[in-house]
Amino acid sequence: MRVAVFGTQAFERGFLEQANEPHGHELLFLEPTLSTQTASLAHGYPAVCAFVNDRLDRPTLESLHAGGTRLVALRCAGFNHVDLAAAETLGLAVARVPAYSPHAVAEHTVALLLAVNRKLHRSVARVREHNFSLGGLVGFDLHGKTVGIIGTGKIGAVVARILHGFGCTLLGLDRYESPECLGLGLRYVDIRTLAREADIITLHCPLTPQTHRIINADFLALARPGVTLINTSRGGLVDTRAVIDALKSGRIGALALDVYEEEGDLFFRDLSDEIIRDDVFTRLLTFPNVIITAHQAFLTREALTEIARVTLSNISAFESGAIPPENLVGRTHFSG
Ligand code: NAI
Repeated sequence: MRVAVFGTQAFERGFLEQANEPHGHELLFLEPTLSTQTASLAHGYPAVCAFVNDRLDRPTLESLHAGGTRLVALRCAGFNHVDLAAAETLGLAVARVPAYSPHAVAEHTVALLLAVNRKLHRSVARVREHNFSLGGLVGFDLHGKTVGIIGTGKIGAVVARILHGFGCTLLGLDRYESPECLGLGLRYVDIRTLAREADIITLHCPLTPQTHRIINADFLALARPGVTLINTSRGGLVDTRAVIDALKSGRIGALALDVYEEEGDLFFRDLSDEIIRDDVFTRLLTFPNVIITAHQAFLTREALTEIARVTLSNISAFESGAIPPENLVGRTHFSG
């Protein structure tokens, strides 16, 4: 099958080529991300492969459809960037990689928590400057702290297991209770209780209409002064302006992000010679107690191998008319 791979990054190409060996699809690697402006590059390609910051809105899907595309194979788990109603109307199948390595994302989450708490971003920079002073580097023990996990699915459960090992008390918020998390002693609570009791809050739910800006000014008004907030899930879960206000007031004591509401215009490219026009993002970068990584939580060899394997299998399965139901996305995923 002819497959147009949008937004190809150098680090993933080899993984995709290797995974394609048993399938033999014709892969066209494209550097531009997918949008209405670039969709015509895929004309004549029945399958398109897209990533998290490709824009799969109605006009883009219409353009793909007009060019003969019938399958959108996402090489990611989240599908909040796809207009599923439009895809359904056009008869476009949308496949994803529902799970590749929850460990990759969970471990990055804990890395961010440890780094921002123990101020590693500041101490490493200081030592490089031969400044060996410790002023401003005081952190806290994770042992004995209460962690609120919003979304205790695959990634949230691994985070729970790791932080249980650190000796944390675990609170959870989810529509479904995870037996594994309950087994770790995690207590399910409502959102207000989680806000009031957690010393550390970490987000692992998908971005849906129900979870959009779940961390907002009302939530933060309830949160413990000095709370640490970690987001490795989706930028839209957080009202960034409210978070900036809370950083200024000290309500948030530390913030670590791997995702950002408007990351589509920034992440996955080198903008070091350019002026960043997003004043909200640049304000975030000025806080000494904020660290940001550019959507790299998934970036392990194991995860890239699995993403490539499942993506290529989805494309072959589409050809034979049998994509596994758990890998297909439809509008029903937004309900409830
Ligand atoms: P999952 O589907 O296993 O778990 C998500 C959990 O969130 C489920 O238990 C679900 O019931 C819960 N949930 C849904 N709506 C909720 C609500 N309104 N309130 C509370 N909980 C709710 O998904 P998984 O694999 O754990 O991934 C979680 C998220 O992580 C993804 O949706 C994606 O946005 C993000 N992600 C980020 C990556 C990165 O590189 N930064 C990589 C992979 C995923």
